[in-house]
Amino acid sequence: MRLIEVAGLHKCFGSGNACTWALNGIDLGLDAGSYTVLEGRSGSGKTTLLNCIGALELPTRGEVLVAGQSLSRLSPDERAAFRLHHIGFIFQAYNLMGILTARENVAYPLQLKGAGRRQALRQADHWLAQVDLAGLGSRRPSELSGGQQQRVAVVRALASGPDIVLADEPTANLDTVTGEALVELLRRLNREYGTTFLIASHDPAVIESAPDVICLQDGRVCAQP
Ligand SMILES: Nc1ncnc2c1ncn2[C@@H]1O[C@H](COP(=O)(O)OP(=O)(O)OP(=O)(O)O)[C@@H](O)[C@H]1O
Ligand SMILES: [Mg+2]
Repeated sequence: MRLIEVAGLHKCFGSGNACTWALNGIDLGLDAGSYTVLEGRSGSGKTTLLNCIGALELPTRGEVLVAGQSLSRLSPDERAAFRLHHIGFIFQAYNLMGILTARENVAYPLQLKGAGRRQALRQADHWLAQVDLAGLGSRRPSELSGGQQQRVAVVRALASGPDIVLADEPTANLDTVTGEALVELLRRLNREYGTTFLIASHDPAVIESAPDVICLQDGRVCAQP
């Protein structure tokens, strides 16, 4: 069984005849441990597809199965629990909590999953050291560079052991060199921990790093050349 199966996925924003079709019938499968980049022009549906896989959006038609579980059948509360236990998100704008320190940001999802504060902070320190941030854990996001904030966001997404990490344009706010370093980091984490990644991006450095690339055009998977 594939970790992610997307079958006949359609997504329309709005209602009735006035709705905007963002996805027009997507079929794809991802294996556990895979590292895939989703490329395509602005408006092609990349973010919408990530959000459907991450249970932030519901399909209009079709299905998303994660580890065999159909996301459409979950109640809103079950979807929130599903996201906490199965999905890690990395966003373009880092989306760290400004009032928390770096280590508290990483520890927070672990605490939501039931870990005690001390244990969660210890794990957070371990993860921050993996991404060269040992010693910076007590800083708040505003006291870190963009690249450092994104590395905090990366380990926040990974620390709770999700089935898949979904990253939406993770290098878009970083300069070229910092972006390339982030790409190398994601690839290393994929190799070392077997974490499954699906990354939406039009950054050439991200696309070149990927053994598998899926292209979207007008809400469909592009025809292969
Ligand atoms: N909440 C929404 N309401 C209405 N239309 C939306 C909404 N979100 C996305 N869309 C539309 O769906 C289509 C796909 O958008 P999406 O954000 O998935 O594209 P994208 O490939 O991520 O683009 P970008 O590279 O600019 O981030 C676009 O036509 C967009 O205008
Ligand atoms: Mg997008």
